Amino acid sequence: MSGLDVRMFTVGPVQENCFVVRRPDAASAVIVDPGDEADRLLEAIEGLQIETVEAILLTHTHFDHVGAVAPVARATGAPVYCPQLEERVLQNIMDFVPWPGFGPFESYDPDHLLAGGEALNLAGIEFEVLFTPGHSPGHLTYAAGGALFSGDVLFQGSVGRVDLPGGDWPTLLSSIETLVERFGADTTVYPGHMGITTLGQERATNPFLRELASNR
Ligand SMILES: [Fe+2]
Repeated sequence: MSGLDVRMFTVGPVQENCFVVRRPDAASAVIVDPGDEADRLLEAIEGLQIETVEAILLTHTHFDHVGAVAPVARATGAPVYCPQLEERVLQNIMDFVPWPGFGPFESYDPDHLLAGGEALNLAGIEFEVLFTPGHSPGHLTYAAGGALFSGDVLFQGSVGRVDLPGGDWPTLLSSIETLVERFGADTTVYPGHMGITTLGQERATNPFLRELASNR
């Protein structure tokens, strides 16, 4: 158990998971990956009686994870933390949408850039920032309270795709390996798509992790 109050909102046409994270009953919170449906997210924040959004944390800048950053940041005043290697993507979201028919999404100038290795104290929660490239070149995972907000690195029964620009399979596998070695089996994984899982469950059942196990 994470000891955190984590609310998941699955948003947009690509069904991306946005998370609102806070200490139980706290009036301040952090939002991870507001990908779409800004109005719905803002209403939810109000409904949860969250007065301050202390940060918007981005795992990576694919459009389905950042489509609502600008309106949510504007409405809440929250600073946006972006992977350093992907700043240009957030600043030009529509130039990087790989398929027609999505958007339009408003670009944004991030307030803070992260490379991995940082420790952030936001809304009374310690977040450790981990560099986990492979799905995208600057991808970050945020560890807090025995949980991982891991974007598109690892899914329930699957892993992130590597066929988009900057994707790389060996790099993704090595990022997953870092997470599996570093964090215990009972670590909750809040992924960018599909259901919530644990590292132990994925180690035991995820076919993509067999490649890791066979390399040991
Ligand atoms: Fe992605």
